[in-house]
Amino acid sequence: MSLSYDASARTFTISTAASTYQMKVDAHGYLLHLYYGALATGDMSYLVTYADRSGMCGCPHDVADRTYSLDVLPQEFPFQGAGDMRSPLLLVRGEDGTFGCDLRYVSHEIRPGKYGLPGLPSVYAQDGDDAETLSITLADERLGLEVELLYGVMPAYDVITRAAVVTNRGEGRVTVEKLQSACLDFVSGDFDLITFDGRHAMERRPSRRPVMNGSMSVGSRRGMSSNQYNPMMVLCDRPATETSGRAWSMSFVYSGGFLAEAERDQYEQTRVQMGLDDDLFSYPLEPGEKIVAPEVIMSFSPAGIERISHNLHRVIRERVCRGPWRDSPRPVLINSWEACYFDFTGDKLVALAKKAASLGLDMLVMDDGWFGARNDDHRGLGDWKPNMAKLGGSVADLARRVNEVGLGFGIWVEPEMVNEDSDLFRAHPDWALAIPGKAPVLGRDQLVLDLSRADVRDNLFEQLCAVLDQGGIDYVKWDYNRSIVDVHSRVTSDQGKVLYDYMLGLYDLLERIVSRYPDLLIEGCSAGGGRFDAGMLHYTPQIWTSDNTDARNRLEIQYGTSFGYPCSAVGAHVSACPNEITGRTIPLGARGTVAMAGGAFGYELDLMELNDRACEIIRTQVATYRKVEHLVREGLFYRLSDPKDADVAAWEFVSEDGREALVCAVVTRVDGYGKAQYVVPRGLTPGATYRMVSNGSEFSADALMDMGLPLTVPAGPYENFMYRFERVD
Ligand code: GLA
Repeated sequence: MSLSYDASARTFTISTAASTYQMKVDAHGYLLHLYYGALATGDMSYLVTYADRSGMCGCPHDVADRTYSLDVLPQEFPFQGAGDMRSPLLLVRGEDGTFGCDLRYVSHEIRPGKYGLPGLPSVYAQDGDDAETLSITLADERLGLEVELLYGVMPAYDVITRAAVVTNRGEGRVTVEKLQSACLDFVSGDFDLITFDGRHAMERRPSRRPVMNGSMSVGSRRGMSSNQYNPMMVLCDRPATETSGRAWSMSFVYSGGFLAEAERDQYEQTRVQMGLDDDLFSYPLEPGEKIVAPEVIMSFSPAGIERISHNLHRVIRERVCRGPWRDSPRPVLINSWEACYFDFTGDKLVALAKKAASLGLDMLVMDDGWFGARNDDHRGLGDWKPNMAKLGGSVADLARRVNEVGLGFGIWVEPEMVNEDSDLFRAHPDWALAIPGKAPVLGRDQLVLDLSRADVRDNLFEQLCAVLDQGGIDYVKWDYNRSIVDVHSRVTSDQGKVLYDYMLGLYDLLERIVSRYPDLLIEGCSAGGGRFDAGMLHYTPQIWTSDNTDARNRLEIQYGTSFGYPCSAVGAHVSACPNEITGRTIPLGARGTVAMAGGAFGYELDLMELNDRACEIIRTQVATYRKVEHLVREGLFYRLSDPKDADVAAWEFVSEDGREALVCAVVTRVDGYGKAQYVVPRGLTPGATYRMVSNGSEFSADALMDMGLPLTVPAGPYENFMYRFERVD
């Protein structure tokens, strides 16, 4: 049984394939966290120690016991108000303005199936899955506040999910000033924290540092999960590597602002926690109202960080992503953006499509510039009506012409935004988030629409349906290109609700679109990778990873992304050189090898300018991709080197059954008469023999995984290698 309650010890125990999690209701009704680690049995209450803490906050329910202080004890859902002075998950104020509450255990329930969260994305179970939910209710008597802690357990996926529902069952208003979803308290251990940091066009590079006394945090106040910090983090033993040491992860299933914290306290105990950003948050609950803290997926590995990634890849790919595209090969795209930016016509796109068809591609995506007065990025957002003169007809007409040359058809949209120079803004200036009397902060000349408003969402839904209902559109790239600065909605006086309600609004709009167009493939995008999170992946099974298509930078960006997200989600295109952003020139072969590490592969350059040799290389790349695509999308992914430091960036995909493997490498540095480079694969079946598909040579799996595979001595930087292996059974 994956979930159990021991009534005599008052412990809850959760087990997954490789982890055990335990908590306990103590004598005062507080819920203590006991253990999250390697599979274990029995009562772990002994891990909590008591000593004289008379200099510290005592127990509100037993003043005589000077050994009891919540400031020391490991907790499951820490809150401000009962003596824990570390960072809380919950901070509330009563109607009189007083901070604090006192949450104690009331009841619990264990039920079959995985809980869902109203209006929010979450991991789901499907028929045949072994899934259970634990619901624990805590309450504060004075305020009448109730907190339901939800735990979802799907043992086969080796993850535990957490969420919380805060309900005001009292008679006065309660304002939630901070709300986080989950924490992990460790009574001992020295840890490193790994977060995934960056900026526009350089997202999600791993940043690893020791957790020292004090607190450290990453997060986003931008109304989006952000290009700067990602809502996924790993905590690990200080010496942990890809294959050794304990590691834990937290991934937020939410696409708005977040806060992820790590704190080492006065007794060198560690707390990590994740949840909503609290800076721009203040959420009043009237009697009867509730707010849901979005889901956090937690994973534990007893043997290195790699296993954390494998767990997350599997659960996100199979039980966060949805729809028919979840398990299907994705179309190989030609995207018009870096091919021609705003400078296109319907004829030009049809010519591009024809050329793409001759190279073996599947779909043309018409990026920005097809609607309203949108011939540059100063105007037109909000007016989702085709520019018929530019396209030479309707979108459906163009789709038909593209279909006739043998390609599917997709379009770009950025529905959440509006330019001041647009018909929508002229008709509804109050629909944009803006503070009356204050000059709005523009980003790329655009404002954000108030998606917390149902009328705004209805308008966008109708406009999008008017385009999609014409037919012929197989794919949509859903973009979002700026942060929210001016947090002010015209329809509420509680501005601290707006950013959270905005996200509920966005998810509502996306849900309506995916329900009405179940076969539509949607690719998320946010100035490249600014909303690359598990929340968006519930609606868009792939995401444009970064606006940076330079293969050298992409090695790092995709490496960092792989810690928390499956390759099936990674949008990766081959673009022209010199690269638009970095000015770097990298051979087409290496650009292809790097982009083929994404399960959403394509091209983003003017195909009409290619010479015959380049066309031949692309034809071969597309043919190669078709052969390995299933491994990229569904295989176990191994980071064989860190591209930031290594002379050879190397990675590998292995099918779950171990029968096939694909080892990829790109040389990033060459020295005069340099040494031979060896790539050491992992995950092959021990004892087996593997045959290299290209030349039939046979290798012992054990020798390969020990000494590695020598690459031919590289003649120059960006020489690239893709070796396919099949197990000889
Ligand atoms: C963003 C996206 C790009 C492209 C442009 C269009 O920057 O990340 O891929 O779609 O918008 O304006």
